[in-house]
Amino acid sequence: MSYLTHLECSLTGEHYPCDQIHGLSAAGRPLLARYDLAAIRAQVERSVFAGRQDGFWAYQELLPIQDWSSVPRLGEIKTPLIPLLNLHGEQLMVKDEGRLPTGSFKSRGLALAVARARELGINKLAMPTNGNAGAALSAYATRAGMQSIVVCPADTPSINIAETRMQGGQVELLDGYIDDCGKRVRELVANDGWFDFSTLKEPYRLEGKKTMGLELAEQFDWRLPAVILYPTGGGTGLIGMWKAFQELTELGWLEQQQLPRMVAVQATGCAPIVKAFQAGKAEAERWENAQTLAAGIRVPMAVGDRLMLQTLRESGGTAVAVSETEIVTAWQAIAQREGLLMCPEGAATYAAYLKLLAQDWIGEDEQAVLFNCATGLKYPLPA
Ligand SMILES: Cc1ncc(COP(=O)(O)O)c(C=O)c1O
Repeated sequence: MSYLTHLECSLTGEHYPCDQIHGLSAAGRPLLARYDLAAIRAQVERSVFAGRQDGFWAYQELLPIQDWSSVPRLGEIKTPLIPLLNLHGEQLMVKDEGRLPTGSFKSRGLALAVARARELGINKLAMPTNGNAGAALSAYATRAGMQSIVVCPADTPSINIAETRMQGGQVELLDGYIDDCGKRVRELVANDGWFDFSTLKEPYRLEGKKTMGLELAEQFDWRLPAVILYPTGGGTGLIGMWKAFQELTELGWLEQQQLPRMVAVQATGCAPIVKAFQAGKAEAERWENAQTLAAGIRVPMAVGDRLMLQTLRESGGTAVAVSETEIVTAWQAIAQREGLLMCPEGAATYAAYLKLLAQDWIGEDEQAVLFNCATGLKYPLPA
C-alpha cells in the first residue's frame, strides 16, 4: 500500500492533490511527494525491505505507486557497493548503477515516473535528454504500452540515440544543449498533446531516484557513509537522496544523527552549481559554451538548482569541478587497478575524491561512496 498523501511546492509549501496530473507548482517550482510518515512509523518495520526480492521497488511504502499490478518491470535490482580495495580499501566504495536495466541509474526515476503516469492516465511522454534518460524512458514507456519522444543534442553519444530508437522511442536531434532541447519539448507539449516529462517538472522521477538513498541506508545497516560524491547534471539524484535521508530521519530508522556530506561533482567545462556554491548564491546562472566528455553532466542550467544548493549547504557538503584530464586519469586508474569499468561521469567523482582527500576535506578513515551512474560499456573508451 502507498502512504502518499499529497504533493507540496518546494518553494512555497503549498499543497496539491496527488490523484491529479501535475507538472511544476503555481510558483514554477518542483513539486515534492509527501507521505504519512507517522503511519509508516507506526505500521512498518525497516527490516521488511530485506526480505522482498523486488529490487528497488522493495521500498513500496515510501513510493507513490497505488496499483502494483500495472508497474512496468524489466528486472530491477538493488545495485551493489564495490569497495576500491586495491586503491583505498573498504573506506571508498562505488555504488555501481551501471547494472540496472538500460545500463544506467535513469531506470530508477523513469520506471517510477512511467508507472505513475500510467496510473494517472497519461499516454504520450516527451523529454529532453543527454542520452541515458532517453534510453530509460523509451524502454519503460514501451514496456508500459505508452508513446515516448526525446529531444537531445546532436552530439549525444550515438549508442544512446540508437538504443532509444531500438526500444521504440522517437528521437529528435537538435543543434544545442539540453536546455535548448527542453524548449523544443515545450513546443511539442503545447502543439501535439505530449506530457512534459523533463527532470523535476513532474513529481515522481525524484521518488525513483530517492531509492538510491534508501538502498544505501539499508546496505550500510542504517548507518550512512560520511560522504557521498555524485556526478551532478540536473541533480535529481542528489536531491532525491537527501529527501530519502530526511524521510528516514523522520521515521527514526537511522542509527546516527549525522547525515552524509553531499558533494556535487561537475566538469570544469560545465560547472554552474560549483560556481554558484562557491559564490554563496541561492540560484545558479546558465553556463555558456558547456563542454565535457562526460555527457550526462553537461547541463548548463537546471530547474533544481535551488534544491541542489540547499542540499549541499544543509548537509555540510561541497561542490567540486574536475578537468577532462583528471576525469580520464581517474577513469583509467579504476579500470586498471580495480578491473571496474566506470562511466566518465562516475570517474569524475573519483577525481573529486582525490582532490578532497588531498585538501583533508575528506579523511582517509572516513567512509565515502562514489556514484557510478552508468555502465562504461556505453561510452567510447580512451585510445
Ligand atoms: C551517466 C550519468 N551520470 C550523471 C548524470 C547526472 O544525473 P542528474 O541529472 O541526476 O544530476 C547523468 C544524467 O544524464 C548521467 O547519464
